[in-house]
Amino acid sequence: MAEKITISVIKADVGGYVGHSAVHPRLLEKAGEELAKAKADGILVDYHVGYVGDDVDLIMTHRRGVDDKDVHQLSWRTFEACTEVARELKLYGAGQDLLADSFSGNVKGMGPGVAEMEVVERTSEPVIVYMADKTEPGAWNYPLYRMFADPFNTAGLVIDPKMHAGFNFEVHDLIHHRRVTFSCPEELYDLLIFIGAPGRFCIKSVYSKELNDIAAASSTQKLNFMAGRYVGKDDPVMIVRCQSGFPAVGEALEPFAMPHLVSGWMRGSHSGPLMPVAQGDATPSRFDGPPRVVALGFQLANGRLIGPRDFFADVAFDGARRQAIELADYLRRLGPFEPHRLHLDEMEYTTLPDVMKKLQGRFQPVEEDAVEEELEKRQGLG
Ligand code: 13P
Ligand code: 13P
Ligand code: MG
Ligand code: MG
Repeated sequence: MAEKITISVIKADVGGYVGHSAVHPRLLEKAGEELAKAKADGILVDYHVGYVGDDVDLIMTHRRGVDDKDVHQLSWRTFEACTEVARELKLYGAGQDLLADSFSGNVKGMGPGVAEMEVVERTSEPVIVYMADKTEPGAWNYPLYRMFADPFNTAGLVIDPKMHAGFNFEVHDLIHHRRVTFSCPEELYDLLIFIGAPGRFCIKSVYSKELNDIAAASSTQKLNFMAGRYVGKDDPVMIVRCQSGFPAVGEALEPFAMPHLVSGWMRGSHSGPLMPVAQGDATPSRFDGPPRVVALGFQLANGRLIGPRDFFADVAFDGARRQAIELADYLRRLGPFEPHRLHLDEMEYTTLPDVMKKLQGRFQPVEEDAVEEELEKRQGLG
């Protein structure tokens, strides 16, 4: 029986440097120290500490399966240790994503984002870990659809016999906490009516029908109900397996050549283009953005992470970056108007209840009868 390896990507924002723009090098150092200890203790097979914007991404391999208590506890401890450093340096929002006071067995629902998958390592196992900042889990809907369902993106869907049967998409409803699986290509249109609303419906995982195996997993956490509203702008991560029945590496990167609009820019309350960038450029500053995505490639070798390859460092993504900047210029000129500013019930910040209270008594009823009469008159009916 072939040996199983679990890839766990667990992320949190435990303090921004400066503001929400980057991770301080001392936090990365601290995270590295904690994971090195866990590797020496035999909890982890291997690790890499990634980052995007103000988010620390722990990329880990082990043999303990998904939702493993030790691995989750290790991540929580690591983020706590990083928070201590963040507090010492008075970084912005120190401990922001650690919503609970103590660990209770699984980091899900406690603030950090989690994407995990258990695989039987193939003869060659190329994987890509995507990490994004200033956006939300639904940001992966568009690229996952392109990778696993769109033959104009993924040639393999048409010409690779191992992909031709298509993929199953598990979609989560983040508000009613339920899930549904769509078999594609047969149910493409049903899938799209849901995932076209990424603020509520998110692709959690994708499975190959031919291989009967997991192809992709995202960090689709349930939304937090805060201040009478759902807020779900937690910066997401995703794992995608490549080649031999899964998308080729280039097919898994291709959707990001189109900087699609995502929610989560400035105060978690604006939409903006998702700009693919190299690890070194993952430092959103203009209007705290625009939103960014980094893609790190690894070859697994008995659980060892051989890499990373920093895919969006490729000059071939310069065009996407240029277009993202043009879109950013355009959207910024809309200022506080939708659709740059998010719809009222999607904003993380709002002064609306306060302004409403202040104006109490100033709102007068509108005579609907008078309006209707006027309309009827104009239509020649009155
Ligand atoms: P595989 O069939 O090995 O995935 O090769 C496809 C490929 O890499 C073409 O770019
Ligand atoms: P983060 O979600 O990355 O912390 O950003 C928050 C924000 O409001 C930026 O303007
Ligand atoms: Mg932050
Ligand atoms: Mg962030």
